[in-house]
Formats: sequence, C-alpha cells, structure tokens
Amino acid sequence: MSIISKDIQKAISLLENEELVAIPTETVYGLAGNIFSEKAIKKIFETKKRPFFNPLIVHISSVDELETIVAEIPEKARILANNFWPGSMTLVLKKNKNIPDLITASKDTVAVRVPNHPVTLSLLEQLSFPLAAPSANPFNNISPTKPTHVENYFKEELKMVLDGGFCKNGIESTIIGFENDEPVIYRLGALSVEEIEAVVGKISIKNKKEENPDAPGMLNKHYSPKTNTILTIDIASEIEKQQPKKIGVLAFATSLKSNKITTQIVLSEEKNLQEAAAKLYDSLHQLDDLNLDVIIVEKMPDFGLGKSMNDRLERASFID
Ligand code: TXA
Ligand code: MG
Repeated sequence: MSIISKDIQKAISLLENEELVAIPTETVYGLAGNIFSEKAIKKIFETKKRPFFNPLIVHISSVDELETIVAEIPEKARILANNFWPGSMTLVLKKNKNIPDLITASKDTVAVRVPNHPVTLSLLEQLSFPLAAPSANPFNNISPTKPTHVENYFKEELKMVLDGGFCKNGIESTIIGFENDEPVIYRLGALSVEEIEAVVGKISIKNKKEENPDAPGMLNKHYSPKTNTILTIDIASEIEKQQPKKIGVLAFATSLKSNKITTQIVLSEEKNLQEAAAKLYDSLHQLDDLNLDVIIVEKMPDFGLGKSMNDRLERASFID
C-alpha cells in the first residue's frame, strides 16, 4: 500500500498524535512534526539521519502568527514578511522563549516561514500548533519535489505523504537573517536576490560556510546525487573528456546532438529560469536512477533563479 494520500484529516490526526507527515510546499516536500512534541522532533532528526546541530524551519499559516514565534521583528523583516508571505522566503529572527531548543539547535534564533501551498496552508490552519519541517530527504540527498521522491526515500519508515502534487518552485526557500537589523541572505533559493532587493534595497549574501558559521546547514557538499556529477559551461568538451563512459546530460535550454551520450534532459527550451528551477531536482532524481557513470550538468545563467540553481549544483558536483 502506498503511503501517498490526499486525506488531510488523516494527516491532522497523525500530527496530533506526535507522528510525522511529509507535507507539500511550493519549494520542496517537508518532513513535518509538531514543534512542541519532543517525540516528533526527535523522530524528524532520526528519520532524516540529520545531526542535531542543524536547526529546523518552523512553518506557520500567516504573518500574524509570527509574533508567537519570535521575540523581535526588525522593520525590514516586517516589510519582507508582508511582501513575500505566503512564499519561498524563510526569516531567521530572535526566538521566543516557548520555542524548544531541539528546533533551533539551542541557538537564540529561529527560522520561520509561511509556505505558499493551498493544501499545507489549510493543514496549518486546522492545527493548533506550527510544524517543524526540514526538506523530506535523507541528509545529503537531493530534496524531493514530488510525492514519489519522498516515498522512495523513506518507504515504511514514514506513515504518510500528504499529496499536493508537484512543487511548483522546485528549489528550497531563500533564507534571510538579520545583522544589526539589516537583512543578509544566508541561503540562495526560490525567491531571487533581485526580487528581494526590489523591496529592501541592496542586500549582502553570506551563503558560504566560511562566511556564515550561523547557518550550520550550509555544508559545502550537499544535495548530492549518488552518480558522479560534473558542472560545466562547456558540455561538448566535457563529453569528449568522459569517453567512453555512460553519460547523462542535464542542459539548460539547448539539446545536444551527440551519439556519445546515453540520455539527456533539457530544463527549459524557452530559457525560462522558473521552469528550469521547477524541473531541476526531479531531473537529477531521474538521471540518478539510470545507473550512469557520470551526469554532466550545464551551468545555468548566473542571475535570478539561475544563481540559486548554480549554488545547489556547485554543492552537488565537482566543478570542472
Ligand atoms: O523550502 C524550504 O525551506 C524547505 C521547505 C520544506 O520549507 N525546508 C528546508 O529545510 O529546506 P531544511 O531543514 O532542509 O533547511 C533549513 C536550513 C538549514 O540549512 C538550517 O541550517 C537553516 O535552515 N536554519 C534553520 N534554523 C536556523 C537558524 N536559527 N539560524 C540559521 N540557519 C538556520
Ligand atoms: Mg534540506
């Protein structure tokens, strides 16, 4: 029997009983539990095999609820929340006393967002507690963007995946912290730097581990396929170098005419970065399942969502 189901009442009763449910969001699927249940939160870390020093994101149903999670809201945080929630932006702010240390890895800040998915918003509205939810993949694996990805990862370890279809943004939320009340990007993601800057002006980016000991999840290697993955601006010469291996190609917009490759996926023939981001992880999942020797990925244009995709791809691959 499949664990994938649209039964929201069942999801509610599992969560109320301190069990985990994988939930859909517009970015990626999350592995969710009641933030106030020690049992559920411990189970999240165990199921993901995630180290306890890596804190979780709290998911709430509206901007108004933010006051119950955080102790202070800087002016620019309020502006960002009002502009982009529900949406693919996570804010890291000083936490309220009632937020358990397990969620925040004992830090004095907490990460929080209002996801933009009708099923999960309805779920959150019906629950009397917020949900902690990291991406629903085992530590160091590619994030899931559809229910079968989650099912394949966890099988009987998990009781339910709440089916919300394909994640339409397909890449994790952009994480923004505050230093002296000024916003700083800690993780590039589904909300582009350009969109954020249009609202709060120039913003600094500290998404490398060296620059930002504060975001412990930003390991330099992350989001990896099992297959050896190479990121390059020049697919054709990389194919020559990799002969006679079994090669899969992930291209941005242009398909390659070559009999030296086993398979290829083109992310967006229209060169649409939004479409490419939505398909990125699913395409990596597909290629990773084909027992190839190597996956050659084309570097994306380095602006907008392309910048966020390149960030993930650099962590997944050896840059040529
Ligand atoms: O799109 C998303 O954000 C998805 C969906 C499910 O909402 N969630 C997600 O969670 O990507 P996760 O756990 O895979 O990534 C959360 C990141 C981690 O890198 C973690 O270190 C960082 O957020 N984080 C959480 N709390 C933090 C805090 N207090 N300070 C700094 N970084 C924090
Ligand atoms: Mg993750």
